[in-house]
Amino acid sequence: MLKLSISFAALAVLLPFVQAQSPVWGQCGGIGWTGPTTCTTGNVCQEYSAYYSQCIPSGQATSVSSAPSPPPSSHSSTSTAPSGASTSSAKLNQLAKSKGKLYFGTATDNSELSDTGYTAILDDNTMFGQITPANSMKWDATEPEQGQFTFSGGDQIANLAKSNSMLLRGHNCVWYNQLPSWVSSGSFTAAQLTSIIQNHCSTLVTHYKGQVYAWDVVNEPFNDDGTWRTDVFYNTLGTSYVSIALNAARQADPNAKLYINEYNIEYVGAKATSLLNLVKTLKSQSVPLDGIGFQCHFIVGQVPTGLQSQLSTFAAQGVEVAITELDIRMTLPSTPALLQQQKTDYQNTIAACSAVEACVGVTVWDWTDKYSWVPNTFSGQGAACPWDQNFAKKPAYDGIAIGFGN
Ligand code: G3I
Repeated sequence: MLKLSISFAALAVLLPFVQAQSPVWGQCGGIGWTGPTTCTTGNVCQEYSAYYSQCIPSGQATSVSSAPSPPPSSHSSTSTAPSGASTSSAKLNQLAKSKGKLYFGTATDNSELSDTGYTAILDDNTMFGQITPANSMKWDATEPEQGQFTFSGGDQIANLAKSNSMLLRGHNCVWYNQLPSWVSSGSFTAAQLTSIIQNHCSTLVTHYKGQVYAWDVVNEPFNDDGTWRTDVFYNTLGTSYVSIALNAARQADPNAKLYINEYNIEYVGAKATSLLNLVKTLKSQSVPLDGIGFQCHFIVGQVPTGLQSQLSTFAAQGVEVAITELDIRMTLPSTPALLQQQKTDYQNTIAACSAVEACVGVTVWDWTDKYSWVPNTFSGQGAACPWDQNFAKKPAYDGIAIGFGN
């Protein structure tokens, strides 16, 4: 009986500590470690050295145990992660700036801002010096009915950028997707649609005048084979919709950088060639165009080797360039090998921007797997971001730091 009551007493003292558990890839032991020493369900605490133990998925215990095992460094910037974890203590926006870039940033979305664990990391402007609203400045969000503008969602992101002293990228004025049906299904004359584009871009850009570093004025104008997307804009106005939108944006905010933003232009091919030719044409016609956004939605192991050269090729036309929507997805489940390859892929992508003076910054298309768009679009794929769904930094984080020269 006495023995039993002692056990209960001991249990009561220990309970607060026993209950806390590390998430997958979180630290769970090592000399000097005072945090949880057990892992959440489905994971085991793997010892790598006297200094470092880490929660890994139960099924991966054997393969991970042969990985290198450095202790996490408290002052370094970056060392080799043992498996699924980052060891870098560097702050990415600080690193980007030390490399001469304007920012390292991230997309974010309004629905994410009530997640306090998320905002605790997002709000650190040594980590993120720039944000892009993933949805709330798009046409369907800002002009759902003709002439009726709603800026509440966009304003929330703009205000966040302001209060955190972060740059803001505006995304976007004209895109074939996320259009309200009054635009996409309307049958307009060329004059009518010209006026609709001018009114939309002008009102949107004017509303955020002075707050936006750069606008994606035109988003994704080309098909992958290099032909123009046959959306309502092209079908009604031909290629002229691009200059209509750019001119309206310039008039609305002469100080904002005006971009065309596109994907699958990160390697030589028909689509990149079409966009390059468009840049040349617009420049020869003195249409206001300041930048080209390389979205960089990549796949692990398939980052184009020509990325740096493509950034330079576009920059040679007198525009700045930026990596605007970076993520690198994999087929799930993630494995230590895939995470290490992803680290290399992030490193190479960042290094490409680092090496090109005209590449002003890098934006990840959200920093955590918790809010990545990828699984909703590519079934069975994900884990594309530098932080996992529990906000633990992945090896990819270290890859970014190394890519910025750290
Ligand atoms: O707002 C509705 C909500 O009312 C509804 O309940 C819910 C049900 O699914 O859907 C919500 O809309 C979703 C919206 O995101 C806001 O969360 C849409 O279904 C969903 O399709 C939409 O996805 C966005 C996607 O663009 C649309 O194409 C992603 O969040 C956004 O990250 C993504 O971003 C694009 C860039 O703008 C351009 N480049 C590619 C990139 C990735 O697709």
